[in-house]
Amino acid sequence: MNNVKDKMLFIDPAVGMKPPPFTHDPLKALVVPRPIGWISSMSAAGVVNLAPFSYFNLVSGDPPCVIYCPTGDHADGGAKDSLLNVQETGEFVCVLANYALREQMVLTSKHVPRNVDEMALAGLTPVPSVKVKPPRVGESPAALECVFRQTIELPPGRRPERNYIVMGEIVGIHVSEEIVVDGKVDVRRMRPVARLGYDEYAVIDDVFAMPRPD
Ligand SMILES: Cc1cc2nc3c(=O)[nH]c(=O)nc-3n(C[C@H](O)[C@H](O)[C@H](O)COP(=O)(O)O)c2cc1C
Repeated sequence: MNNVKDKMLFIDPAVGMKPPPFTHDPLKALVVPRPIGWISSMSAAGVVNLAPFSYFNLVSGDPPCVIYCPTGDHADGGAKDSLLNVQETGEFVCVLANYALREQMVLTSKHVPRNVDEMALAGLTPVPSVKVKPPRVGESPAALECVFRQTIELPPGRRPERNYIVMGEIVGIHVSEEIVVDGKVDVRRMRPVARLGYDEYAVIDDVFAMPRPD
């Protein structure tokens, strides 16, 4: 390989995220695509909360674990519902959004008062989970029932708000028969949406396989 890039731009987050020629913070456009965990949780009073998180990923298959990161505060002040509820009740469901649900997914990120059920707001169907109390979204082709295991606070950022990693263990996996072909999940049938930078998204429609060298 001899295509070494010799005109690199360097950004020091401690100095600023938009040095010339940038007009927008490029970081979230670089680490892409980010899967979206659509987190369904429930307060102790039984109010459902649904919100998308692209600081989200599967971090282990055995034990099966996911993380998501509530960053910043709720518009009314204090931590976001997706953090408070999970710390309060110890459970959440990570719904996987696909292209058909993209508008509803974005709608559920709306800043609404704490007692508003975003699943109802978006006209989605709550379907009871098997092992946890928060419902899954009936229209979604896949969902992961999770038990809350740990919160990690991130180092202080440029804003005064606090930021967290929430880690959960998957205790139940729902997969629609519609996306299973020959014993495998067919990602072309699932059509997951992923977050890119700015207000851009991607849909997975095209895949290629590469066997490992050994
Ligand atoms: C595609 C998408 C991804 C998002 N990812 C995150 C995220 O990773 N972390 C976060 O704190 N907020 C994220 N948001 C914003 C939250 O969804 C929004 O703040 C929501 O109201 C969560 O608050 P709640 O838990 O109080 O309902 C994202 C929004 C969208 C549309």
